[in-house]
Amino acid sequence: MLWFKCSEIIPGVSIGIAFLAVCVSAILFYLDLEVPKDKDRICVMAEAAESNLEEYKKKNMNAFVVGYTGEVGKALVKHLAQVKPFQKVYLLGRREVTLDVEDPSYFEQKSVDFEKLEESSDLFKGIGVGFCALGTTKAKAGAKGFVQVDHDFVVKTAEVAKAAGCEHFNLVSSQGADKNSSFLYTKTKGQAEEAIKAMAYQRYSIFRPGVLLCDRQESRAGESFVRFLLKPVAALFPTAISTPVDVLVKAMINNVIATPDKAKDFELYENKAIHMLGGNLKSSCSEKTKVDSAPEK
Ligand SMILES: NC(=O)c1ccc[n+]([C@@H]2O[C@H](COP(=O)([O-])OP(=O)(O)OC[C@H]3O[C@@H](n4cnc5c(N)ncnc54)[C@H](OP(=O)(O)O)[C@@H]3O)[C@@H](O)[C@H]2O)c1
Repeated sequence: MLWFKCSEIIPGVSIGIAFLAVCVSAILFYLDLEVPKDKDRICVMAEAAESNLEEYKKKNMNAFVVGYTGEVGKALVKHLAQVKPFQKVYLLGRREVTLDVEDPSYFEQKSVDFEKLEESSDLFKGIGVGFCALGTTKAKAGAKGFVQVDHDFVVKTAEVAKAAGCEHFNLVSSQGADKNSSFLYTKTKGQAEEAIKAMAYQRYSIFRPGVLLCDRQESRAGESFVRFLLKPVAALFPTAISTPVDVLVKAMINNVIATPDKAKDFELYENKAIHMLGGNLKSSCSEKTKVDSAPEK
């Protein structure tokens, strides 16, 4: 009897699973193939970043990083230590850490209280470029705590930095960020993006990575499970829904040092664009594209 029922059910379930797998694969394939609207500009910028580094260094800009003790922040610090595009980098956070870099003197750590960030406004003076990789999770901080960090602290940082003279703000947001979303995570990210946009920075760059691929020290059961499931997806469709942190931070730095005439006052990099700007998709930036592309004004 049981065998009879199973034999009836199993083919249906198998067809259902196979159909679902085909649909998911088609979506991932589409996402992986998607070409950013301003692909030409991004390709030119990725290449220009290498050749323009020495020129950029002559500007003697200073930078700050908030969220530097997190996964993106640590990778950013490592990359900055290698490239050294700035005169000095100020690391602002709620705690000081031992930096895993060869020359820690390139950095200066300062403790701040994000709830009273105005009191630390002097620390932002003379800093032209800011990077924000602050963030937490609902599981860790609760819904209120999550909004406080991912929206309030992020927006406050941008506000205080701008008042102190920061010209270029770089925000690590997330794939799917949308101020009208019904999901707390994507809604909060979208609202933070919008609030900073209204500040009219001289230059504002938003990065929306997919699931970050990194060796996270902190254990996050849900995220680890997603990352485990993502391994084959990331191998087959590398730019669809995942982003290695190294690629993300390279894109962030390339974006800053690429020649100013390739820059815009507002830039929004979705996941595929991050891969391109981070030099992860050199083959997609064909020779023809480079020659044909005129810098956008
Ligand atoms: N994880 C993903 O797959 C993923 C995907 C897309 C986008 N993102 C976004 O990318 C950004 C960086 O992610 P991540 O994985 O690097 O984050 P992370 O490892 O959790 O690091 C977050 C940073 O924010 C700081 N922070 C958290 N709560 C704080 C608080 N209450 N007060 C002061 N500082 C606080 C942390 O400081 P402490 O070290 O002191 O805690 C740390 O420096 C986040 O905005 C995240 O939402 C993540």
